[in-house]
Amino acid sequence: MNNNDFIIRRENENDYREVENLAREAFWNLSVPGCFEHYFIHIMRDHHDFIPELDYVAVADGKIVGSVMYCKAKLVDEQRNEKDIVTMGPLCVLPGYQRRGIGKALLEHTFVIAKEMGYDTVINFGNPDNYVARGYKSCKRFNVCFEGDLFPAALLVKELEEGVFDGRKWFYHPSDVDAPCGDEEAVGRFDALFPPKEKGWQPSQEEFYIHSHSSING
Ligand SMILES: CC(C)(COP(=O)(O)OP(=O)(O)OC[C@H]1O[C@@H](n2cnc3c(N)ncnc32)[C@H](O)[C@@H]1OP(=O)(O)O)[C@@H](O)C(=O)NCCC(=O)NCCS
Repeated sequence: MNNNDFIIRRENENDYREVENLAREAFWNLSVPGCFEHYFIHIMRDHHDFIPELDYVAVADGKIVGSVMYCKAKLVDEQRNEKDIVTMGPLCVLPGYQRRGIGKALLEHTFVIAKEMGYDTVINFGNPDNYVARGYKSCKRFNVCFEGDLFPAALLVKELEEGVFDGRKWFYHPSDVDAPCGDEEAVGRFDALFPPKEKGWQPSQEEFYIHSHSSING
């Protein structure tokens, strides 16, 4: 699929349920049995950290086949200086349309806009396989960590301009936008609005466990 086979445009209100359903299809059973990302998208749009200017969809064959969203976040250094950055995610492409360049196009399109908006850093927590080809590097390379000097293997940093980081330590302070996703009952109530789907195990869940419990040392 080349870029002539799909278009990228801003999400609008009429797309909301279709995008949530797309996220549910893309994330279902991927990291855990079932998924919460459709609920995450649903609540994210009303959060003060959500960035509507970076909320994009990909459309092909008359339907929405890809989605990307961003939220505001902060880096704080040891002198308590703050830097505004963005957190990317969720990013998802409809199964059947994956591995055809749509995710790449959504990222590259929104990186340009984020840079125009004045941001120089994108961070996300995810499987490095999906991101290193887009120029993301381990957080350890830029001395970006969580409080407690934790450098998770899945914490990935993308410089939108080269040389943003000068070696000083930065602590990553993500938005609390995903906090309600820990409420399994709320996720279940929202999920019940969609067609029934069977929860189950698949190997990607173990991969997720390994990535999300690993950190970079040395
Ligand atoms: C991850 C995802 C968004 C990627 O979108 P996509 O349209 O399938 O990916 P693309 O075709 O644009 O590929 C982008 C790059 O990632 C690589 N890639 C994509 N999926 C990959 C996978 N599962 N494993 C390894 N590499 C992968 C491609 O080889 C490509 O590399 P290249 O630029 O060097 O050619 C999509 O597969 C998806 O929705 N997956 C399920 C949800 C998910 O995992 N979201 C990300 C959360 S961390």
